[in-house]
Amino acid sequence: MVQNQGASVIAMAGKGGTGKTTLTALLIKYLVETGKTPVLAVDADANANLNELLGLDVDVTLGEIRDRMKTETPQGMTKNEFMEIHINQAVIEAKGFDLLVMGQPEGPGCYCMANSILAQVMEKLSRNYRYLVVDNEAGMEHLSRLNLRKIHTLFVVSDPSARGVLTAARIADLTKALQVDVGQKVLIVNRVPEPVPDALDEHVKKAVDQTDLVFGGYVSASPEVFEKEMAQESLLDLPDESKVITQSFGIFDRFLKEG
Ligand SMILES: Nc1ncnc2c1ncn2[C@@H]1O[C@H](COP(=O)(O)OP(=O)(O)OP(=O)(O)O)[C@@H](O)[C@H]1O
Ligand SMILES: [Mg+2]
Repeated sequence: MVQNQGASVIAMAGKGGTGKTTLTALLIKYLVETGKTPVLAVDADANANLNELLGLDVDVTLGEIRDRMKTETPQGMTKNEFMEIHINQAVIEAKGFDLLVMGQPEGPGCYCMANSILAQVMEKLSRNYRYLVVDNEAGMEHLSRLNLRKIHTLFVVSDPSARGVLTAARIADLTKALQVDVGQKVLIVNRVPEPVPDALDEHVKKAVDQTDLVFGGYVSASPEVFEKEMAQESLLDLPDESKVITQSFGIFDRFLKEG
């Protein structure tokens, strides 16, 4: 179990393509710039791409190390020791934060021992950080990969549609079935048109009334994000005065105040 003594866990959820990875990158920028460090960013999406939004290259993933452990642990060394030594190679050090990429999950047939060793090593590692920020692929079941015991803040990201907001509410409900304690669940509706249509406001109100989600706020469709994406540049360089930064930082400020 990732125990996180010290590290406060912030995770992203939401259906595919809603902006989880984009908001994770903006959250890392926020934490670094407001001095809420050290931060460990964990890319838990098998199809990892958070590193690209942060302008970082990945050499080795945790999944690769886990697979190597099975055949390459030398005699006289425990598998735990092997993992601990090699995991350091997988931690990418950047300015104010580190990044760890989970990579591919286990193939068919569960190597439970490998997973439990991975969880133990992660637990130890996470004690060195103030925040653990986890980007996920769509679907809540992936969160269980990390064996997190507590998520302090879960940001549920939605697209600006009636059905999207309903799906976000459903995702928030699904967390109840996971064996993880979630502190606060915060809805972010991303890529909204301006002005925000009244009908969208109504759908958001309904979703918030029917679940334990609280409304974080809207983030507009951003030409700056689009430009960065097209140029394949890091989102960390977005100017602080751009609307997407003021909006997202405003949300993060309100929900991560005392952390
Ligand atoms: N506020 C925004 N303004 C403009 N473009 C955005 C915004 N948020 C996200 N995008 C774009 O939408 C696309 C999907 O975003 P992103 O990859 O962050 O979603 P995701 O939820 O992580 O997707 P997946 O489920 O595949 O992991 C990307 O091309 C991204 O640049
Ligand atoms: Mg993503």
